[in-house]
Amino acid sequence: MDISYKQAQELINDEYLLPSLLNLFSFLKEERKHINWIGLYLYKDNRLVLGPYAGKPACSILNLEKGVCALSFNKQKIINVKDVSLFPGHIYCDNNSKSELVLPLKNKLGVLDIDSDILNRFQEEDISFYKAILKLINERL
Ligand code: SME
Repeated sequence: MDISYKQAQELINDEYLLPSLLNLFSFLKEERKHINWIGLYLYKDNRLVLGPYAGKPACSILNLEKGVCALSFNKQKIINVKDVSLFPGHIYCDNNSKSELVLPLKNKLGVLDIDSDILNRFQEEDISFYKAILKLINERL
């Protein structure tokens, strides 16, 4: 694993969960190239509610009928959208977002959402990287 994974591992394993997640997302947004938003949406009352994140202000509530996060949550699958403008029902929280990767958290707790300001940002090695990050997060939830 690369150096940023090791730093991520240290950040997520800090004493308290919320500051650990906030530092993890801030670090990943700054350290990885072309990431403009990264954070969690958490399942509550049949909706996805904004959790800890790094990036511009985002939609605080997503319903489960549309959008990339809802699709990933409903199918419990990783969704890699190479061009969000071609995804029917994509919800823009930041107009700079061009591609998006969403991974479901364990036990239907919600999703990890990552946005990029360039098209087709997420390649196989990026998906493996964020799967490893997801595992670190899941271990703390
Ligand atoms: N684009 C997401 C909404 C969340 S923001 O990207 C932070 C979606 O379509 O579900």
